[in-house]
Amino acid sequence: MMKAAFIQFNPVFGEIEGNIGKAVTLIERTGAELIVLPELFNTGYLITSKEEAFDLSEPLPGGKTTEALSAIAREKNVHIVAGLIERQGENLFNSAVVIAPSGYLGKYRKIHLFNEEKLWFQPGDLGFHVFDIGICKIGVMVCFDWFFPESMRTLALKGADVICHSANLVLPFCQDAMITRCLENRVFAVTANRTGTEDRNGKSCHYTGRSQITGPNARILYRAGAETDEIGIAEIDVNLSRDKNLNRFNHLFLDRREAFYH
Ligand code: ACM
Repeated sequence: MMKAAFIQFNPVFGEIEGNIGKAVTLIERTGAELIVLPELFNTGYLITSKEEAFDLSEPLPGGKTTEALSAIAREKNVHIVAGLIERQGENLFNSAVVIAPSGYLGKYRKIHLFNEEKLWFQPGDLGFHVFDIGICKIGVMVCFDWFFPESMRTLALKGADVICHSANLVLPFCQDAMITRCLENRVFAVTANRTGTEDRNGKSCHYTGRSQITGPNARILYRAGAETDEIGIAEIDVNLSRDKNLNRFNHLFLDRREAFYH
């Protein structure tokens, strides 16, 4: 058994130091081996220009956010998945960093960009990747990736036990949809959403909170409130996600009829 957690809060736009500080304070209070933070947790979400996004971006690895998360991961002996703006040359990506107690482990670049994100970010080009963190295998995706069933299917087929899902959800559907996503892939998922409303330059975004840990048997293991700062923790038995037998005759992956899926 292992413990996985999300941290839900209301990041303040552009206040990178303050947002990192808040996240670190909450991580210190979280007794779990795996902790997921929201999408763009350190910067806020509602970007209004490419220049602004560039100013808020960091190289990955090497930026101050990776450094701060690595320090707390080492101190608390935890793995952390967290969303941030990655800069590579002139290109920006909506990325998630994976941090181990020993430091930077890898990154994921959001593949399915949502709405105006397409104005600032390049679509992810690294594919869906599974990281073996010893206690389990984690697959990483970011927010709107949930809308495409192929995202979680690909991660499940690659052997993920737990989907780490950093999110800034604005639509009300994901939390319920994750019940089916987890059932159809027999995996756990930790959806770390943010709360609050951002109003910037005539634009507004409201985030739906209700971060959720979902189990393979269509069970919600933890669902947060819509507005609260909240740490959600659940016990996870990876044997459940590794057994893809539905009954004596049905195996989730071996029963796939790929010849008919084109
Ligand atoms: C989203 O992908 N942040 C809705």
